[in-house]
Parts: sequence; structure tokens; C-alpha cells
Amino acid sequence: MSKKVISPGGAIDGAIDLPGDKSISHRYAILGALAEGRTEIANFASAADCRSTLECVKRLGAEVGTKDGRVFISGRGLDGLRAPRKTLDAANSGSTIRMLAGLLAGQAFTSKITGDASLRKRPMRRVIDPLTQMGAEIESDGGRAPIAIHGRKLHAIDYATPIPSAQVKSAVLLAGLYAHGVTTVREAVRTRDHTELALREFGANVQTSHGVISIEPQPKLAARQLVVPGDLSGAVFLIGAALVLPGSSLTIHGVGLNPTRAKVLDFLIAMGASIRIPTVQARGGELVGDISVKHAALEGGVISGPQVAEMIDELPMLAALGPYTENGVEIHDAKELRVKESDRIATLAEGLRAMGGRVEEFPDGLRVEGRSAGKLRGGKIDPRGDHRIAMALAVAGLGATGETVIGDAECAGVSFPEFFTVLDRLREATYAR
Ligand code: S3P
Repeated sequence: MSKKVISPGGAIDGAIDLPGDKSISHRYAILGALAEGRTEIANFASAADCRSTLECVKRLGAEVGTKDGRVFISGRGLDGLRAPRKTLDAANSGSTIRMLAGLLAGQAFTSKITGDASLRKRPMRRVIDPLTQMGAEIESDGGRAPIAIHGRKLHAIDYATPIPSAQVKSAVLLAGLYAHGVTTVREAVRTRDHTELALREFGANVQTSHGVISIEPQPKLAARQLVVPGDLSGAVFLIGAALVLPGSSLTIHGVGLNPTRAKVLDFLIAMGASIRIPTVQARGGELVGDISVKHAALEGGVISGPQVAEMIDELPMLAALGPYTENGVEIHDAKELRVKESDRIATLAEGLRAMGGRVEEFPDGLRVEGRSAGKLRGGKIDPRGDHRIAMALAVAGLGATGETVIGDAECAGVSFPEFFTVLDRLREATYAR
């Protein structure tokens, strides 16, 4: 297993483009497989998670090819998927297993899907419950993967999600493509809406209003030509690096700025970050723009309530910025972090403490002390196989007094395989000046 040594210092300087958004790539791959005709997807995510989705849709009969950084999917039509010969493997990807569960619930066959050791520990009842209410029969290992999905003729439900989750919402909406009647999902807290936008792009009839999303069963979806915006959740680690390293200046081109994802930028700006968005345009229903960030002093802040779902994947980076703020960073109402790729509250607390940070852990969050608690000194980090922890703590290490060693740094590839190379390149630019 590879480790990565982070030597502190330097600055981030330059302009870059980023690989495609992980969440959007999953959805385009799934809907491409269900559409009639050949879908072409440019800037498809390089994330290992999205390769898992492509592998799964291949096993379900879609033809998948890649050329010049584009992914081509010849869809099977809504009723053309075939029973997979082997168990589908979602590897580390919660989005893959949960969204595909929704799709598989309405098929005329049985399929099994599982994942790696981390995924097999994560809760699946959140999708099993609504899909069972719609008429599917699902067996699981005590609410965890592997799950066997016996597809059935589904009926529509009106479902209020008990926890804010775009994955659960998406599973129900995808099942809704096959259900008799109008399927409705009600969200108390708005989660990312890429599924709704992508479904519309592929021709589905989706209505949304004030947290109520409805979908009708669909005779067919049409293949599309799409470009995936750059991944904002990946960009946030580079923005974090620019905020940790004085003298930094970075522009990231073509990043997804969907309002259900971009709250992290508002939060960073409220903390004092110097972030500008000089251009924004709409593409395939998604907002895309450039982000320019310059190093600035950060005040710190508290994240709670609906902000948690709005910035769920950015919380590790925000927590790891705590020692670089005046007043620290505090997170509450974030129990969901305990059932992500790792128990992110525990792994963040353990990692930041190993670097000399002062952290208080709560059942539903944590408080990371600010500058007055002293500088981080660097340390040995075990990210517990969690890509976002590896990247967040590497960024924290950039401003420490000594070296930080990230064990199993390759796990960053789950969402951002190029992260360490890009980080090194952007720092070399300043060393060379
Ligand atoms: C995702 C939704 C979020 C997020 C995950 C990707 C998606 O999970 O944490 O990384 O693509 O829908 P939940 O919906 O379970 O919160």
C-alpha cells in the first residue's frame, strides 16, 4: 500500500481543469444504460467509484466504450437490461449500490449486488425499506450488503425520506421509472438534485416543487450527448490547500456549481476566504463556472442543521481547516458522517490529534480548535481507506511544522485519482518561480 509524504510549505499557484463530477457521472452512466441509442459523455469522472458503476451497467447488458476521454454507452432501453451472470460489485461506492438497487427493483429478474469491506458495513435499509414498499423483494445481510434484489412489478409510493439522502431519493426515483402511478419523494432538507436534472435531460417527466419530487413511469429515455462539469467536491481539497498556504492563488475551470452542491463556497466565503466565480453558465441542466481562490485569513465557523446535508462531502476538508482558522470549526447534527466510507468523525479526530490538533468529539460531530491551540506538527495518518480523509489530512499537513505521512494514500483514487499529482504540480509551479 502506497504512502504519501507531505512536506509542508510552498504555495499553490496556477490554473487547472478537473475531471468530471463523481455524482453526475454515476447518474449519466445509469441513465445512458437505460436510454435507447448511444449516449456520449465527455469529461466522465476518473473516480474509481464511477468505474464501478460502468462495470455494473456493462454486466446488465449495456455496451460501454471509452475513447479520447469520452465514455460511450449503448443503452438497452428501459426494459432491455438482462440478468447479470455474476454478483454486481459496487466496490467502495455507496451511490452505485443504492442507486442501482432502485433500478434493479423494477426489473423482471433477480440480481445480487455487493461491495468492499467498507461498503458491506454501511446501512442499506434506507433503500431496502422504500423499495420494499414499492413491491420489490430484497434480501440483505441484516440490512447490509450483499443484497439480493428480486425485481417485481412496482407500484408508486409517496415517500418522505427519514434522513436527508440524495442516494435514497435517487433510488426511489429510478424505481419510479418502472412503477405504476406517480412516485413522490418528499425531502425535509434539500439534497443534491443531479438525478432529477439528469432524468429530465434523458426525457423523463420529473416535477419538483419545494422539496417534493414526482416522477411518472416512462415508456422510454433518449440517448444524449453530455459533458460532465468538473468535480466541486474534489476542487474543495485544492481550494483548501490554497487557503492553508500563504501566497497561494488558484483558478479552477469548468467546475460544477449546482446550488445543491455549492454551499461550501458560501461557507468558506463567510469564514473569510477570498473566492470569486468570474463566469457561470448552464449546461445539461447543471451550472458550470470557474472558481478563483486566493489565500486569506479564515475566521472559523459552526456547521449544523440543513448545512450538514448541503456540504456532506466537504465536512472532512472543512474540519481539517479548523487549525488554520482563528476560532476553530465546529460541526453538529452530522451523525451521517459516522456511516460514510469510514466513521468520519472518529477518523478526523484521530488524524488531527495525531498531527497535534486539539479536537473534541461529539456523537454527532466534532470541534477542531483554531490557531490559538498551536500549529499542527504533522504526523502519521491512517485514513482507514477513506479517500476524503486522506485528502483532507494531506491538506492539513501542508501548513504543519513537520512532515505528514498519509498511509494508503492511493485510496484518494476512489474519487480523485489525480489529487496528489495535481497538488505536487501546483506547488512545484511556485518553487520554480
Ligand atoms: C451522493 C450523495 C451523498 C454523498 C455521496 C454521493 C450522491 O450521500 O455523501 O458522496 O451521489 O448522491 P447520501 O445521499 O447518502 O448523503
